Parts: sequence; C-alpha cells; structure tokens
Amino acid sequence: MRHPVEPFRIKTVERIKLPDREEREKILREAKYNLFKIPSEKVFIDLLTDSGTGALSQEQWGAIMVADEAYAGPRSWFKLKDAIYEFSGFDDPIPVHQGRAAEKIIASIYLYEGAKVLSNTLFDTTRANFEKVGAIIYDIPIKEAYTLEENHPFKGNIDLEKLEDILRRENVALVVMVMTNNTGGGQPVDLDNLISAYEICKRYNVPLIIDACRISENSYFVKKRNPKYSNWEVKDIIKESFKYCDGAFMSAKKDGLSNMGGFLFLKDPEKNLRAKELLILWEGFIHYGGLSGRDIESFAVGLLESRDERYLEYRVGQVEYLTRKLKEIGWDVMLPPGGHAAYVEVSRALKHIPKENFPAHSLAVEMYREGAVRVVEVGSLMFKDKAKFEFVRFAIPRRTYTQSHLDYVIDVAARIYEKRESLRGYKIIYEPPYLRHFLAELEMV
Ligand SMILES: Cc1ncc(COP(=O)(O)O)c(C=O)c1O
Repeated sequence: MRHPVEPFRIKTVERIKLPDREEREKILREAKYNLFKIPSEKVFIDLLTDSGTGALSQEQWGAIMVADEAYAGPRSWFKLKDAIYEFSGFDDPIPVHQGRAAEKIIASIYLYEGAKVLSNTLFDTTRANFEKVGAIIYDIPIKEAYTLEENHPFKGNIDLEKLEDILRRENVALVVMVMTNNTGGGQPVDLDNLISAYEICKRYNVPLIIDACRISENSYFVKKRNPKYSNWEVKDIIKESFKYCDGAFMSAKKDGLSNMGGFLFLKDPEKNLRAKELLILWEGFIHYGGLSGRDIESFAVGLLESRDERYLEYRVGQVEYLTRKLKEIGWDVMLPPGGHAAYVEVSRALKHIPKENFPAHSLAVEMYREGAVRVVEVGSLMFKDKAKFEFVRFAIPRRTYTQSHLDYVIDVAARIYEKRESLRGYKIIYEPPYLRHFLAELEMV
C-alpha cells in the first residue's frame, strides 16, 4: 500500500538529525516530559502539529519578495482581500495573526458570563477563549463521533436533533461548526449537515459561525464522501459552505498553507465593525492585523493553492496511509481517516496506565524516546475530565514529509506496540490555569 505520489518536487531542503538514545533521554528529562519544550532541532520527524509548519511553494516565496510593508493600505492587503473573496465569497474580511486572535474577538462580541455555546466540538484554544469570558460550552457531535469504527463518512457532523432541541428550550448565544473537527479526529462535516444546522439556527435566531481552518480538506471530503457533490469542484464546495453561516474565522496556518496568519468576517456589518475596532486595540490596523506584509503575501497565495485537488488527494491520502498502517500494527485508530492527522486511541493497548497518569501522553513520550518522533497527546492531559478519548495525534505538516518519512514513523510505532506493556504513566508536577498541556511539567510514575 502506498499513498498518492507527492505532486511537487523539492527545491529547498532542511537537514534533520536523529539524536542518539542517550541524548533523547536527557532531552526528555530536561523538558520535564513536555514535548512542547523540546527544541525542534532535536526532533527527527515533527508531527506535533500541522499548524504553520508546512512548506511554502515557489509562488509563495516569490510573493514574499514583493510584499508591501506599509501600515495603512498596503498592496499586499488588497491582494489578500481579493484572495479571501475568491475563496469565500466574502468581501470585507479582517486579518488576524492567527486563529485564536479571531476567537478572542468573537468571544467579546457574542459572549458573556453564562452565555451558552453549542458546537460539533470546539478546539482547545476556542474553548479556552470562550470560557475566559464566562461562556458555557456544549459539544453535540453525532453519536458516531464518539466511536472509533468506520461507521459514518462525516463524523464531524453536529447532532441536528439535539441542536434543535436545545435551541427550542434554552437561550443560546452562539453555534460554532468546526470544519474539520480537529479534537474529534480531523473528521469532516457534511455540507448538508451544515446547511441544516444553519436553517435550524436561523429559525431560532441564533448566529452560526464556522471555524474554517481546514475547510479545503473538509470540502475535499464532501466531494469524495457525499455523492451529491461528486461532480462539484472543491473550490465551489468551499464557497458554498461559506453561504451557510453568519460569520467565519480561519487560522491560515492550516489550509491557508502559511506559516502565520488568519482572518475573520461577520456578515452583520455592525458586528464586523465592532470586530475591526477590537482588532485595532489588540492586533493592529485593519490592513495587517498583526501580520507582516510578507506573511500576508504568503497567505494570499497559499489560501488559493489549498484548493488544488491533486494536492488535496495526496494530502488526505497521506493521512489515510499513516492511519491504516498504524491500525495494521495493532494500535486502535479513529476511522475513517480524517484530514490532517492520524489519531491513535490508546485506552485498550495501554490499559495498564490509568487515565490520571495520561496513557496517551505515555505513548507520545515514547515516540520521542524510541525514534525522536514528536507527536501530541489529545486526551486527559489536554482536556482533563472532558476528554472523550485518549488520543495521540500524529499531525502531518503540509507538503513537508515524504512517504519514507511516514514509513519511519510507522516503524517506530510498531516497535513500541511490541513492548507496550513496559510503558509507564506520568504525573503533573506543575500546571498553568489555562491550556495546561502547553506549559505543564511532568514526571514518570
Ligand atoms: C480547529 C482549530 N480551531 C482553531 C485553532 C486555533 O488556531 P491558531 O493556532 O492559529 O490560533 C486551531 C489550531 O490548531 C484549530 O485546529
């Protein structure tokens, strides 16, 4: 089994080094077993995240060279504005330096102490930003989302019955559709599900916002998994999706194919203006939003490149390849494969490690110890008692690694599976009040 051939050739290379076993052990100790604290130079294959870690195209590098760094009215901003219009159909976007800056603005506009938010499953930064202003979050994905089996093509869907039922009974401030659902395994949302959710929200006069950071991958899945859209072009599915919302935000570090950037827009002109006011307070002027002209140029080009269907075929094909190979080894994985990462669920394989000792983190640490591969825990360490799964996420940076890199990762995961009973748990010795996994310090038990 192979994944679709990489639809590019490599023009610039970055050397990667494999530290020896003794050094890896020392690095883990020094990082207090928090993989975010390991210098990337000490990582051989870095699957920590697909956010901002992809390779740029020659067109993006070319655009960077002609960036306009003016504070107000830079040429680069108008290029991005046009690209966002071409991508989403919306003509008054607001730039931000990354997704969470948009989340903070949206939280200030729509939310307040006790405000209720419904979602197909909010991402951790969105959740933290919303909870910071006192909002209460309810994740209501379809029931299949909480199973690992290949039992639904769109496990990112929101439960429409629950949505309607809650909207009928309660005062809800906001509904957010995350496309694809990162926390739930990179699972896509069907366009038909989005359309129905939007119609329900309209009936109850509740705004629906799209978290669009992986909307190109999501739209590729819509084309492939919903026969109704099989003759559509991905770019048209993307645009169609943006019709069914009251606003959207996007971290360009994912399907913007950029190292930095993002945007938001709110279709209500009053609210969009409020967002611009807050942008100036927190991020910068409305023509750069915390980004350099160089970032903006790279984003403008990357955003449109992300719609290339050969690229998307290879991209989701890579994720499928990694996911199915990890399953073949014996690990439980989230199926069907999602859009940006393979998700290994360790509850069965590492059942000797209790939840309080973070079994998925144990595998994540072991991936580094065994082969200098960096992955991330998405389980009890990240979400505390709200975790539905003990996942290890193997996120694939865009256009960065080849099939043989993935084969190396698969070999490391196979060696660990063989000795899984020897893995040990961890306990926290320091944790910050928000998003604890980023700064936590741990020790082995
Ligand atoms: C679904 C989702 N929403 C929002 C964000 C936040 O974006 P950023 O990291 O650019 O702040 C992320 C980042 O990983 C994400 O995956």
